[in-house]
This record gives sequence, C-alpha cells and structure tokens, in this order.
Amino acid sequence: MKAVIFDLDGVICFTDRYHYLAWKEMADEIGVYFDETINNRLRGVSRMASLEIILEKASGEYSQKEKEALAEKKNAIYVKLLDRMSISDLSDDVKRTLEELRKRGYLLAIGSSSKNTKKILAKIGLGDFFDAISDGTNITRSKPDPEVFLKAAEMLSVTPQEALVVEDALAGIDAAVSGGFSSAGIGEAATHEKVTYRIEKLSDLLGILQGK
Ligand code: BG6
Ligand code: MG
Repeated sequence: MKAVIFDLDGVICFTDRYHYLAWKEMADEIGVYFDETINNRLRGVSRMASLEIILEKASGEYSQKEKEALAEKKNAIYVKLLDRMSISDLSDDVKRTLEELRKRGYLLAIGSSSKNTKKILAKIGLGDFFDAISDGTNITRSKPDPEVFLKAAEMLSVTPQEALVVEDALAGIDAAVSGGFSSAGIGEAATHEKVTYRIEKLSDLLGILQGK
C-alpha cells in the first residue's frame, strides 16, 4: 500500500449537520417534506443528485433552471454555516492519524464529491496538508462512480491496487469497489458487505496499515 485516499465529509470532518440544516431550510421554503432519514441518503452524493432525491417528495415539477437556483440557495446557507468551522473542528484522533501516516511515508489524498472541499480544508487547518485533492470541482460523475478516486490515484501516480479508500458513505464504498480499491468503512459504510476493513475511528487505520 502506497497511498490513502480519504473522503472528506464524515471522515476528516463532520459537516453532516450543516448539510442537513441547509437542505432543511431550502426544503421548508418550498414546502417539501425533508427529514434526517432522507438526509442519510445524501451522504457522498453530489449537490444536484442530492436535490433530485429531496424533490422526490415534491408535488410539482421544477425546471433545470429552478433546480440550479435551489441548489445555489442551499449552498449559500451551507457556506454560511461553514464559516463557524475552525481548527478546533479537526479532532485529535484525525490529526494524530494523519500525522502518523505522513511519518510512515504514505501519499495522502482527498477524494470528495464536495465543491467546498478546499474551503473546508482551509478552515480546519489542512489547506496545505494533502498531496492531492480530487473533489467535486474536477469530476463529471459523482459517487458511486469511481471517478473521484481514480482521479486522486492518478494525481498521486499510484494504481488503485496501491491505495486504500476511507469512506463513511455506502455510495463511497460502491465507488471504491468498482474502481478496484480496497476500502475502510466508518459509520454507515462499515455495514457495507463489500468493505475491506471496518473501522470505528480513524486511528484504527494505523493498526490495519501496519506492515502493509
Ligand atoms: C459530500 C457529502 O461529501 O459532498 C454530500 O457527503 C454532499 O452530502 C456532497 O451533497 C456535495 O457537497 P457540496 O459541498 O459540493 O454541496
Ligand atoms: Mg462522506
């Protein structure tokens, strides 16, 4: 194993609540039912694909232009919430794990569907940390498509067989599997039947990668 590719939201930091609050405000405004269970289906899924899932509960039809305006509205609320984040949102466990993997010489990358990746990394003090960042701004197909991880591997000049993907989303494990990567699943992703390693916290990776 030469590299580790980390999902961002739910693995390196915990923005789930902010995504939920922003979608909820947008959905309330247009009178569409939205709850935490629906929010769970949005994990790892791109902004526009998330909106399509939310609009399953809408009574009327929305044009492409209206959908883009709704996604923009959600993002404006979300970005405002992100302003609350700071270096204190980087947990000790995540920090320790990243530092130890760096010390052991692994190449480290981000593979996230989010177009806000760089903003979030800067907020939590990891703006310059990773060797490569593959995110929502350089892909055309969102997870479960493997594109975001394949691009990350390409940026690092490693093959999928040489990289471990770390994910909290079921769609993220699907993406890792179809791209030919081994995977470590945390949270809901640990329940995926095809995940290679199940972890409870990020530092569990340090044992898994021992000698690999
Ligand atoms: C993923 C989140 O990381 O990014 C999804 O798990 C989110 O919930 C997606 O929809 C896209 O994020 P953004 O920041 O581009 O709207
Ligand atoms: Mg995630």
